[in-house]
Amino acid sequence: MDTYYITTPIYYVNDKPHIGHLYSDLIADVISRLYRLSGNEVMFLTGTDEHGQKVEIASKKAELDTQLFVDKLSKSFFALSEDFNISNDRFIRTTDIYHKKGVINLWNRLVENGFIYLGNYSGWYSIKDETFYTEKDIKNDPEIQKQELKLIEEESYFFKLSSLQEKLLEHYETHPHFIYPQERREEVISFVKQGLNDLSISRSNFSWGIKVPNSKKHIIYVWIDALANYITNLDQKNIEEGKEFEQFWKNGTIKHIIGKDILRFHAIYWPAMLLALNINLPTQIITHGWWTNEGEKISKSLGNSIDPNKIKNEFGVDCLRYYLIKCSSINKDNDFSRNALISIFNTDLANNFGNLIQRTLKIIYNNFDKQIPIATLDLLELEGAYSMQHEVIDLLNGNKIHNILIKLCILSSETNSYLEKNEPWKLLKTNKDDKEKSANILVTVLEKIRIIAIIFQAFIPTSASKILDMLNIDINERQITNISNKYKIKSSRILEPTVVFQKIIINTDQNF
Ligand code: MSP
Repeated sequence: MDTYYITTPIYYVNDKPHIGHLYSDLIADVISRLYRLSGNEVMFLTGTDEHGQKVEIASKKAELDTQLFVDKLSKSFFALSEDFNISNDRFIRTTDIYHKKGVINLWNRLVENGFIYLGNYSGWYSIKDETFYTEKDIKNDPEIQKQELKLIEEESYFFKLSSLQEKLLEHYETHPHFIYPQERREEVISFVKQGLNDLSISRSNFSWGIKVPNSKKHIIYVWIDALANYITNLDQKNIEEGKEFEQFWKNGTIKHIIGKDILRFHAIYWPAMLLALNINLPTQIITHGWWTNEGEKISKSLGNSIDPNKIKNEFGVDCLRYYLIKCSSINKDNDFSRNALISIFNTDLANNFGNLIQRTLKIIYNNFDKQIPIATLDLLELEGAYSMQHEVIDLLNGNKIHNILIKLCILSSETNSYLEKNEPWKLLKTNKDDKEKSANILVTVLEKIRIIAIIFQAFIPTSASKILDMLNIDINERQITNISNKYKIKSSRILEPTVVFQKIIINTDQNF
């Protein structure tokens, strides 16, 4: 058994959750569930990033006390993970006391190790991105040029990032899988090679944040505060103390799931901080692309943000979970389309897999005395399905989770063809031998359904459990390690089959 520590970004509480947040959650959820299903110990963390100027401004706009404002919005992110069956073990809030203590501890250790000094900052700040931009950044990036940038001149504490440039480059070199995907890794390496400046890590012209120890006017830069959550969560007290730190950080495989816009913070600043603290670096930064909405960039000004709850109310949780993973590649940008969502659900789940379950169970229910018959499995036909036990893990380790769904769909269609070719319903009507043959075919199909449903638990947990229940699969035999002939489906009484995936009737006029 191995140990995994899986995290999502912690979300700014300046606005309500949208599809991008759910996507980060979902990738981390599928990864966590797959590791758990293969018998590993997983700690899965998500939460909210509640300090900084952006949140302070949003609370003022809402005319609410900032603490009340963040309490309210943090609840909506908490609800997002509950509502979408996200299996996080922890939900951290940066306004939690233990987190604040942890950040101060971390700051003091950076001071002790000689990585923080007081200086003067003069330059551009984007409140939207909560980040400092150099003249070069602005010149090279039209997206930054569109933002409101404030010229800031203030006394500031600095982190000696520049002194860690070579160590960072060495780490990227010796750990080729540190940043996923490869294109992002190259982007980071080339950025670092151009030279790193020291990083301004305190602000003094607003107050919503954690105070710098022994300073009256400075607060800790929101990104230092936020990144620290990955460690302050462990043991929920001091860094480098306690069992969880030992188990999940020192000896675990650590995977941070993030969007491409926050790569620099996770692949440069965060590892640099850890190097300065003499703490081991995470195993991998998994960077996903952005969703557009029906071909358009999602933006506040266009008002085209996608509300996951609306889709949930219309089509259900598993439908949206399935679509977001099946129709995206982690390493690419992906386009949200209502028609694609409907059509993928109908094709893959209602027609392909759902129909397979329905008709097989119905024939059994009606012709075998409401009982899965004792039968001999067609092992040749099952070879591909059994090999999924290992293929799933390879695809998971390569961050190709949507390919797992593609494989499952192929397995399901092949099984439908197997059924068509062998026509077990015809054999029922002849003699006893043929009825046995029919049973063998039908139970072979159920065995494939069992395997597909076991893996589906990571993607569409409610529907998958329902299917495994219909097949009477023991609750302790629903792991990926149970994908073998040794745990094959057993003869048992079944209930009258009900529809698992209700086909969606298309209404093309409606938009989100
Ligand atoms: N608070 C920081 C993260 C701190 S982590 C130590 C933050 N928060 S955020 O709420 O703005 O964004 C959280 C995540 O949502 C990011 O990974 C971002 O990439 C993702 N998305 C925001 N819009 C998105 C899309 N349109 N599509 C996909 N993901 C996007 O950044």
